[in-house]
Amino acid sequence: MYAAFTLVVFICLTASTHADHHQPCHAPNMTGFMSVVSIKGEVKAFGAFTYDSIGKKLRFRSNESYPHNASIGLDVLMLFDEGIFYEIDSKNQSCEKKALRCIQHPLDIPDDATFMTTVNAGSSSIEGEGLKISAWTGSMADKKGTYFMAVTMECLPVGTFYVYESSSFLFSLTEVDIEIKDPDLLVVPPICLGQPLEETLEGTVHSFLNEFM
Ligand SMILES: *[C@@H]1O[C@H](CO)[C@@H](O)[C@H](O)[C@H]1NC(C)=O
Ligand SMILES: *[C@@H]1O[C@H](CO)[C@@H](O)[C@H](O)[C@H]1NC(C)=O
Ligand SMILES: *[C@@H]1O[C@H](CO)[C@@H](O)[C@H](O)[C@H]1NC(C)=O
Ligand SMILES: *[C@@H]1O[C@H](CO)[C@@H](O)[C@H](O)[C@H]1NC(C)=O
Repeated sequence: MYAAFTLVVFICLTASTHADHHQPCHAPNMTGFMSVVSIKGEVKAFGAFTYDSIGKKLRFRSNESYPHNASIGLDVLMLFDEGIFYEIDSKNQSCEKKALRCIQHPLDIPDDATFMTTVNAGSSSIEGEGLKISAWTGSMADKKGTYFMAVTMECLPVGTFYVYESSSFLFSLTEVDIEIKDPDLLVVPPICLGQPLEETLEGTVHSFLNEFM
């Protein structure tokens, strides 16, 4: 996790953006693990994700048995196309339905991202000891922050670094598989059905990051 952190930060600091015509690639269906660390070193969350790249659906469940004090219990289902966000509390059998007013998230490069560079992490000459990644950057939808993303040549996310004045966060993706192992995780759970949509300011999610701040 910290290796990925250093890697992404290093790329951000050393690469300059290229004005050539690279088009951002898009991630496929995936299952894997995601960790969220603040620049202050606090582990915000660690857990499994499931992503549907066609339906634009993302489920993330943090693993509370992960031995870090600061990590938060979180189980969220985001339906980006429908603009709906569910926060699920299975212990309490409760669910909150909120309006999702953002489409940026750490697993997919936004269409308007700017290409930075392609580098070999590890070794490029020793078989199996290297990882070729490309780095992308752009501004957050709210214009208050900047993101840096690193993906493999097949567009699998390695890490996304969000830089805000108040704080910065690194999302690291590991053990990624290009399939949805449990499609049920992307189905709205029964406890969430029939929930009213909270159209209030509090009930609106403007950024994927909000949940981790
Ligand atoms: C991705 O997952 C969705 C939902 O399970 C499925 O409909 C779609 O066909 C999958 N796409 C690929 C390329 O496997
Ligand atoms: C949480 O992590 C523990 C230890 O790694 C593992 O045994 C458990 O299956 C995980 N639980 C979930 C829900 O991922
Ligand atoms: C976890 O947090 C509690 C309360 O803030 C603190 O007393 C404890 O020392 C922390 N444990 C670790 C391992 O950091
Ligand atoms: C369960 O829900 C109640 C009321 O919404 C809340 O006060 C309580 O903290 C919740 N318990 C857990 C374990 O999340």
